[in-house]
Amino acid sequence: MALKLDNKMILALVLVIGMHFSAVNCRTIPDATMAERHEQWMANYGRVYKDDTEKATRFKIFKENVEFIDSFNNVGSRAYKLGINEFADLTNEEFRASRNGYKMASHQKSFDNTAFKYENVTAVPASMDWRKKGAVTGVKDQGQCGCCWAFSAVAAMEGINQLTTGKLISLSEQELVDCDTSGEDQGCNGGLMDNAFEFILHNNGLTTESNYPYKGTDSTCNSQKEASHAAKITGHEDVPANNESALLKAVAKQPVSVAIDASGMAFQFYSGGVFTGDCGTELDHGVTAVGYGTSEDGTKYWLVKNSWGSSWGEEGYIRMERGISAKEGLCGIAMEPSYPTA
Ligand SMILES: *[C@@H]1O[C@H](CO)[C@@H](O)[C@H](O)[C@H]1NC(C)=O
Ligand SMILES: *[C@@H]1O[C@H](CO)[C@@H](O)[C@H](O)[C@H]1NC(C)=O
Repeated sequence: MALKLDNKMILALVLVIGMHFSAVNCRTIPDATMAERHEQWMANYGRVYKDDTEKATRFKIFKENVEFIDSFNNVGSRAYKLGINEFADLTNEEFRASRNGYKMASHQKSFDNTAFKYENVTAVPASMDWRKKGAVTGVKDQGQCGCCWAFSAVAAMEGINQLTTGKLISLSEQELVDCDTSGEDQGCNGGLMDNAFEFILHNNGLTTESNYPYKGTDSTCNSQKEASHAAKITGHEDVPANNESALLKAVAKQPVSVAIDASGMAFQFYSGGVFTGDCGTELDHGVTAVGYGTSEDGTKYWLVKNSWGSSWGEEGYIRMERGISAKEGLCGIAMEPSYPTA
């Protein structure tokens, strides 16, 4: 049978072939070279290197990170994406060493905590976002100081203070870094949220961010500022461990401090979507669960406030998968949650 092509069919054929070629062309047009991407990134984030040797070292790390991010994102079915953020010239080891400072270990607690005031909560809303209730301050940036524990504790305290008094007051992490040093907490070298709550309790409160601003380094406690109290707590409780239903009851009632394993490269470069791992349960980072919900595709998540600035993740937040089969929760989020009481 002779193949008859009329004008319409030829046009269609030309279009199909044309589209095919342009699609191929799209893929073969060379990307901006890696060096250009590095220069662009340096300009975007104001990064300056002290000499060419440092620049060469950082370029090599940048290139490896970008290749990792690109290949991760090229897998179509991912629930979340990675992005070339301000941490793109740091190895994962460097990143972890400078940012994560949660000291995993129940042994380090000097007090006993068994009460769980929300155990009998039955009605839990389908979703919660404490930001919408005015109980969450803007995203903060801990910088190169492993005091995530202070940011986590302060965010939970800012939350309960707003829920109790109706006033959202940004409180001081630096006070914890400088003054909460007689126990296990060690400023930029790490600490625990529970110990921070204990310090705040015995100090009869915490001062404001503006009175005792964040410096991102360990320094001497300003006892005059330490004595000024903008908010207080009456105690603190642990959510029963390894139980996401119990965690849900607590987060439905107030922002809750949680510890997670944030050690992976996927965490370092998370840029959006519901994070589903990979991660383990070696808790090394303190953050704050400020809500929960279900994504459009039906994935349940925890809404988590981080302290790595607002250019990381979803404007400083991460949605982490909720209700997984492992009782520890994703990245161990259900292992050591706690909250202050007021
Ligand atoms: C929860 O209910 C039980 C049974 O009524 C009661 O014994 C317990 O004290 C309640 N817990 C709290 C925290 O209210
Ligand atoms: C988890 O917590 C819920 C709510 O407090 C409780 O009813 C349930 O018994 C707990 N589950 C386990 C396995 O402890």
